[in-house]
Amino acid sequence: MSKQRTAVVIGVGAVNGLGAAVAQRAAREGLHVTVAGRTASRLAAVVESIERAGGSAEAVVTDVTREDAVQALFDQVTARGTPELAVYNAGNNTPGRLTEMEADYFEAAWRTGCFGGFLFGREAARRMLPGGGTLIFTGASASLRGRAGFGAFNAAKGGLRLLAQALAKECGPDGLHVAHVVVDGGIDGETLRKRFPSFAEEAGERLIDLNGLADAYWFLHQQPARAWSFELDLRSKSEPW
Ligand SMILES: NC(=O)c1ccc[n+]([C@@H]2O[C@H](COP(=O)([O-])OP(=O)(O)OC[C@H]3O[C@@H](n4cnc5c(N)ncnc54)[C@H](OP(=O)(O)O)[C@@H]3O)[C@@H](O)[C@H]2O)c1
Repeated sequence: MSKQRTAVVIGVGAVNGLGAAVAQRAAREGLHVTVAGRTASRLAAVVESIERAGGSAEAVVTDVTREDAVQALFDQVTARGTPELAVYNAGNNTPGRLTEMEADYFEAAWRTGCFGGFLFGREAARRMLPGGGTLIFTGASASLRGRAGFGAFNAAKGGLRLLAQALAKECGPDGLHVAHVVVDGGIDGETLRKRFPSFAEEAGERLIDLNGLADAYWFLHQQPARAWSFELDLRSKSEPW
């Protein structure tokens, strides 16, 4: 029996968010997409947006910091077909000064931003090899430099980036294209608009376009095995960097 072409995106929340945009892009290319996150109602809205556009998707409620949940997610995904594209998108900003930070807060930021990436990446590699495919991790400006007031996020994202790089070197020769996307600036989506409305309003055109980001993820997936990027950085034209 020929299996369906599939993708899995974890860290899907708002319809107007990066996880959803990447899932919508893959669905437009004909892949059945499993969208995973912690909130059933938000996932249902993303599935509906994909189906409305003529695509195929399903939702799985998952917490990526739980090993058993990540394994169960991949059991469900691979029952349909080994994914050719897997995207780790969980891990939003966790601001706060290190000197005033509770240990639990730091650990929670690391669990979602980094440890979950290990669980997801390891499971994806185990399921996608020896066939191959593309595994993409979402980074941020925080992946490349530490900043006062953002230490927990920096530690998580910096760790995730090097995890991705190690995995790329470990699994690349066997055919798994592992890549990391540095989203260098605010995204024009629901996260910023809800959490920091006045910043989003003021930033205006400086915010990064969701469709442009989703195109970049798809571009990475399309790269031939003799011309792979490990990393792409994306920012709007007016972002100071
Ligand atoms: N927004 C920005 O301006 C910006 C800028 C630079 C980089 N980024 C990066 O982009 C990614 C997020 O994109 P986005 O901001 O547009 O948000 P998004 O794709 O709309 O949502 C990401 C979703 O991940 C889910 N999630 C969080 N923890 C999870 C967990 N433990 N297990 C499973 N799912 C989990 C959350 O939904 P639930 O709470 O419903 O689970 C969250 O809404 C992050 O990696 C972030 O660091 C964002």
